[in-house]
Amino acid sequence: MFEHIDAYPGDPILTLNENFAKDPRDDKVNLSVGIYYDDEGRLPVMRAVREAEAQLLAEPAAKPYLPMAGLAAYRDAVQSLVFGDASTARAEGRIATVQTLGGSGALKVGADFIKRYFPDAKVWVSDPTWDNHRFIFERAGFVVGTYPYYDEATGGLKFDAMLSAIRDLPAKSVVLLHACCHNPTGVDLNDAQWVELIGVMKARGLLPFIDMAYQGFGAGLDADAFAIRELVRQNVPAFVANSFSKNFSLYGERCGALSVICASAETAGRVLGQLTSAVRANYSNPPTHGANIVARVLTTPTLRQSWQDELASMCGRIERMRVAIHARLRGNVPDAMLARYLDQRGMFTYTGLSAEQVDVLREHHGVYLIRSGRMCVAALNDRNLEAAANAIGEVLSKEIA
Ligand code: LMR
Repeated sequence: MFEHIDAYPGDPILTLNENFAKDPRDDKVNLSVGIYYDDEGRLPVMRAVREAEAQLLAEPAAKPYLPMAGLAAYRDAVQSLVFGDASTARAEGRIATVQTLGGSGALKVGADFIKRYFPDAKVWVSDPTWDNHRFIFERAGFVVGTYPYYDEATGGLKFDAMLSAIRDLPAKSVVLLHACCHNPTGVDLNDAQWVELIGVMKARGLLPFIDMAYQGFGAGLDADAFAIRELVRQNVPAFVANSFSKNFSLYGERCGALSVICASAETAGRVLGQLTSAVRANYSNPPTHGANIVARVLTTPTLRQSWQDELASMCGRIERMRVAIHARLRGNVPDAMLARYLDQRGMFTYTGLSAEQVDVLREHHGVYLIRSGRMCVAALNDRNLEAAANAIGEVLSKEIA
């Protein structure tokens, strides 16, 4: 019966992370998966999350099914965080939001919806992008193409090439974009570039799908959502996936949401209905615990302030690690490959190391990066920094020798 089932080669990120856990070496260093670890190398439980969780445990409650679209207080809090409290589209009821199983769940629900109502659309992702973008949309039946994005020569953005490729796409093409802290490159558009790109997408009748998995890890909670606010400002219908895995350190709770910006409240009602139907056909309804925590934190002023402060200090620690690894690598890494450690934003630096160099780092030094050369700088700390920097220096010097 199952002879034709082929072996799963594994996921480029999550399987590597699982293999790291099995690696018996004491001095191993995990810079692979996009997870923030604190100075001690531990996954933090944020103060506001701990407090909200304690409050919720003190109020034991039954656990019925949530509505298919999710917890109402959570969906409302998502809208206010993603679109801004004063968003006119929100006030006009033009945004349809469903709670989802993390950002991946949002992408899948969105993909199913789009496949049903825009069956001939093709999906375009940045070159490169998060591997799961391609997996999710291909599994939903789409052909996925790429538009130019990362400039290996400069460690920056090929904005002109990106814009001209997107300008040439047929109407109703789906254009997947990262709101901030691009994964895997850490290279983002600036505000002026977003304004220009959104104008082009509007003029060409394209369908933007924004993935915001790292809100708060770039320039701040509001600044990171600039593209989304600009889409609303220019009246462009669009999809927005967001996740609380990283900014709440709630990875395993699978807290995400999908929002669709519509032209009217009446349309948003119909879109919400069909998103709900996609949720039902995938997993019926979302889980309660994480959504309760996020809603409690975002709607309780003291908890919200505590969360924002702690998130800001996490970003400060990442910045400190960027400066520290940059300083350690100076002399070992060619100058052209060094600036990106400081310039790229969010959890990742796209090091420029080849897949073969990454293999040597992992096999000989126990230092794990993604084979694309992506390093999670948010997993560096004062204790593993030297080992990581020395290993990279050694791999590069062998190459040069
Ligand atoms: C990553 O990019 O490492 C994270 O978003 C985790 C994942 O699911 O791939």
